[in-house]
Amino acid sequence: MHEDIAKVLIAEEVIEKRLDVIARKVHADFADEDSLQVVALLKGAFVFMADLLRRVPLRLEVECLNVASYHGGTESSGQVDFLDRKLPDVNGRCVLLIDDILDTGRTLAAVTAKLREMGAREVKTCVLLTKDKKRAQEVEADYSGFEIGDEFVVGYGLDFDGKYRNLPYVGVLDPSIISS
Ligand code: IMP
Ligand code: MG
Repeated sequence: MHEDIAKVLIAEEVIEKRLDVIARKVHADFADEDSLQVVALLKGAFVFMADLLRRVPLRLEVECLNVASYHGGTESSGQVDFLDRKLPDVNGRCVLLIDDILDTGRTLAAVTAKLREMGAREVKTCVLLTKDKKRAQEVEADYSGFEIGDEFVVGYGLDFDGKYRNLPYVGVLDPSIISS
């Protein structure tokens, strides 16, 4: 275990088993569509996206969007910024939106609204983690890997100040790291 991690919340093998289940659901739900546009949110979703999509044998296309809602700390800034100059053409398409974690709900709400405004026919949302808390925006994920308590986690794509995304599990940081 990494020395900055106080405890492993979700082990790698547990994540892998859960991905098999989510992938089967996604496959079944989109099996009748001739094409699926996946939109994954960077950077947090990159590990989840790669591991999940390799389990989904559909004819799909992947786009990644850069959005920012955190600015170095552990609290959402309350504002969602789209950092890309060009957004993917989703007009008339079925979209699977992938993010790492549903926290305040602002990111999923803002990106879902944007994709609908751009003419997406259907938007389904998929997150690795859902935090059990009151959200700023009422939004639920159509697919969610795990429900966790309202604590700050890192690993498997999730960062603290840009670090720990490469850990193969989801863990809780040692409190001394956040306060230092
Ligand atoms: P929301 O817009 O508040 O739902 O959260 C969106 C983003 O906040 C996620 O995509 C993450 O990048 C980040 N985030 C929220 N909670 C955590 C956490 O516990 N650890 C790391 N990043 C988090
Ligand atoms: Mg982040």
